[in-house]
Amino acid sequence: MQPNLQILCQQVCDLSKQTGDFIRNERLKFSATTIETKGKNDFVSYVDKTSEKLIIEGLEKLLPQSGFIAEEGTSTVKGEVYNWIIDPLDGTTNFIHGIPCFAISIALMRNNELVMGVIYEINFDECFYAWEGSKAYLNGTEINVSKANKLADSLIATGFPYYDYDRMKEYLDLFQYFMKHTHGLRRLGSAATDLAYVACGRFEGFYEYSLQPWDVAAGAFIVKQAGGKVSDFKGGENYIFGKEIVAGNNNCFPEFLNAVQLFFN
Ligand code: IPD
Ligand code: CA
Ligand code: CA
Repeated sequence: MQPNLQILCQQVCDLSKQTGDFIRNERLKFSATTIETKGKNDFVSYVDKTSEKLIIEGLEKLLPQSGFIAEEGTSTVKGEVYNWIIDPLDGTTNFIHGIPCFAISIALMRNNELVMGVIYEINFDECFYAWEGSKAYLNGTEINVSKANKLADSLIATGFPYYDYDRMKEYLDLFQYFMKHTHGLRRLGSAATDLAYVACGRFEGFYEYSLQPWDVAAGAFIVKQAGGKVSDFKGGENYIFGKEIVAGNNNCFPEFLNAVQLFFN
């Protein structure tokens, strides 16, 4: 039987907030001695792992027979129809340094199509969400991408490459271009939050490479439901698994994508 996505989305928001409470409490007593290193500049702690466990236990009850693509590998069960894409703590580097920008990101895929996105930014208690056919919402209020209509009026978010330095020159050239042609750039340290902020009009655009599906799946879906556009660097659809993403409001997106393509081609 098909789940009611609106009800399920509300339940996933509740689960995210409960898990967010756990993360917020752990932050208060967090000790750097519990940090583990997964790769270069890639950190994890019991907080990420426990958060993922809580989320997966909750989702298993909400949608039996679904599968998981989850950052910390708590479950690798593949669902025949439904699969959740989970980042249990997006912004771990912020979390371990006590910088208040980190979020939970949960998306649902039916076959190969995204049908739900939930991003809970824990510090500001902001829950961004949308489901198939819905508008996008922030804590119960409809949100839309910004109405700015040129790059020159845009504030852009990005993430700095921190292990894949192969395209550093292109990245820095594009960075410089945006410095000169926009209101400026921000690096929040949580790609999910960057995308949520595009969806609600705080940022006009976001771009980054070497991201994983759990960093972008929920956010890309919410941006689209909020009236924005999302693509890979070539303007194509491979932005969930393809490790390149550009997202923006409808008006600025073409100019924004053109700029990306000036340097990444
Ligand atoms: C990271 C954040 C960051 C982005 C990194 C991601 P994590 O996720 O989204 O903004 O620049 O590429 O890996 O490791 O904190 O879940
Ligand atoms: Ca992440
Ligand atoms: Ca993470």
